[in-house]
Amino acid sequence: MTDSFYVTTPIYYVNDRPHIGHLYTTTIADVIARHRRQAGLDVFFLTGTDEHAAKVADAAADRGLAPIAWADRNAEIFLSTFGRYGISNDDFIRTTQARHKQKVQRWVGQLLETGDVYLGEYEGWYDPGEEEYVPDARAEELGRKSPISGRALVRKKEKNYFFKLSAYADSLLGLLGERPDLVQPDARRNEVIGRIRDGLNDVPLSRTGTGSWGIEMPGDPDHRIYVWIDALFNYLSAVDTDERRHYWPASVHLIAKDILWFHAVIWPALLLALQRVPGNEWIEIPRQVYAHSFWISEGRKMGKSLGNFIDLERLEEIVSTYGLDALRYYLVSQGPMGVNDADFAAARFDDLYHAELANKLGNLVSRTLHMNAKFADGRVPAPGPAGEPEATLVGVAEAACRSVDEHMARLEVGRALEAALELAAAANRYLEEREPWKAAKDPERRASVPTALHHGCEALRIVAHLLVPFLPATANEIFSRLGLEGAARPERPTRFGSLPIGLETRKGDALFPRIERPEAG
Ligand code: MSP
Repeated sequence: MTDSFYVTTPIYYVNDRPHIGHLYTTTIADVIARHRRQAGLDVFFLTGTDEHAAKVADAAADRGLAPIAWADRNAEIFLSTFGRYGISNDDFIRTTQARHKQKVQRWVGQLLETGDVYLGEYEGWYDPGEEEYVPDARAEELGRKSPISGRALVRKKEKNYFFKLSAYADSLLGLLGERPDLVQPDARRNEVIGRIRDGLNDVPLSRTGTGSWGIEMPGDPDHRIYVWIDALFNYLSAVDTDERRHYWPASVHLIAKDILWFHAVIWPALLLALQRVPGNEWIEIPRQVYAHSFWISEGRKMGKSLGNFIDLERLEEIVSTYGLDALRYYLVSQGPMGVNDADFAAARFDDLYHAELANKLGNLVSRTLHMNAKFADGRVPAPGPAGEPEATLVGVAEAACRSVDEHMARLEVGRALEAALELAAAANRYLEEREPWKAAKDPERRASVPTALHHGCEALRIVAHLLVPFLPATANEIFSRLGLEGAARPERPTRFGSLPIGLETRKGDALFPRIERPEAG
C-alpha cells in the first residue's frame, strides 16, 4: 500500500477576500503537497473556508445581505483565487456544507455524552476580533488589549457549554514531551509548553445571541457551536468517509502563529476526548502542527490604511508583471516559515527576480537550448567521454537532489528551493568552463561539444525535476522544451545520464524576460 500524506491549511474567514497571508500558507502547503506527490505518496491536500464567525454575519449585515449570501460570494472568491494561482488542493471544504455540519454535531454530541462538554457559566476577558477568551493572567500581561488588533478586550459573562480542556493538561504535556515534532518550530513548541504549564481553563464551546448563524448545539437550539470548535473539526470531517479515512491522522496542519493555541492545545485535546468514544479509535492525534510567522510589507505591519496592504489587486498586479512562478519564488524563498516575520518588498522582489530567475535559471534554459539548436541540430546529443568538469557537475546534481529532500523533510522550503537553484548555478559554471560556443569553432576541442551539450541538457532536466513543487509551470515548460512530454520522462528522474538521446529540443522565448521596474507603490 502506498504511504499516504495529508496536509491542511487553516480554513479562512469569509468576511473578506483573500490576501497575501492566505495565499502564502496555501502556496506553501501546495509546495509540500507537490513534493510528496512527486515522491510517489498518496497525497490529500485540503483547504477551505471558515464561515460561521460573527464577523461574517456582521459583514453581511453591513451590506444588507444574509450571512450565507456573503459567505457564498467570498468562498467562491477564495476557491477561484486558489484555482487561478495554481493551487493543487484535492478538496475545498466550507463549514456551511452539510457534510461538515452533521459530523460536527455528531462529535459534539459524543462529547456531551462522555461529559467532556458540560453546561456552565463563564466570565472573562474576550477578544471580539479573534472571537476568543484570553485567560485572566494573560489579559493583564497584554494590558487588556488584543495581541492581534491592539483593540481593548471586553469583559464578558456567558452561560455556555464548555469543553473540559483543563482535564487534558497532563496528557498534552506528555504528548508534547514524547513527540518533539508535534508542534514546530521548536520555539513555538516551547511557548505552548510554557502556557500549558501556566494552567489550562476550560473553554467555551457554544455561543448564544449570535442569531441563527452557526451550527446548532445538539439538543439545545438556543446555543450555537462556537466557531473555533466548528472550524477545527473541518480537518476531520473532510476525511471522515470510507474512501478517505486512511488519510487520518493529518501529516501536517500548516498554520501561522496567530492560531497556534487552537491547533496545538485545543485541537489535540478535543481529539483525545473523542478517542475515548467506542468506534473513534481511528481518531489519532495529528503528526504535526507547523506554525509559520507573518508577512509584513515594505518594513511595516500590513494595514489597509497604511497603503502597504497586499490584497488581491496587488497580487494580480505582481503576477501580471512578473508571472505566477515569480510570485511563488518570492513567497517560498523569502517567506516567514521560521519564527521571524518576513518583509514583502517590491524592490527586493525585482532584484531577486532578475538575479535568480532571469539571470540564473532563465539564462541556463536559454543558452543550453540555443546551443543545442545551433551545434547539435536541436537534438540531445550522445555524450563523449566525461572528464573532471562533468564529474563535478554530476556530484553537484546528486547533492542537490539529496539536499532538496532533506530540507523539505524539515519544511525548510526556502532552503530546498535554494538547493535546486544551486544546480542551475553549477550548470552555468560548467558551460562557462566547457565553452561549447568556442569549442565548436576549435578543431582540437570540437569533440567536447556533444558532451557539454548533453550534460547541459541533463542538468537542466534535473533542475526542472527539482523545481516541480516550487515552480510547476516553469518546470513543465522546461520539460516540454527538452522534448520530455509526460511519457518520455525517465523512471529514475534524479539520476544523471537518464535523459534519452536524440530528443528534439525547442528554444522558445525567455522564460523570465527582463522587466523595467514598474513605479513603486
Ligand atoms: N478561520 C480561522 C482559522 C481556522 S483553522 C481551523 C482564521 N482565519 S483567517 O482568515 O484569519 O486566516 C488566518 C491564517 O491566514 C493564518 O494562520 C495564516 O495562515 C494566514 N495569514 C493571515 N495573515 C497572514 C500574514 N500577514 N502572513 C502570513 N500568513 C498570514 O484564523
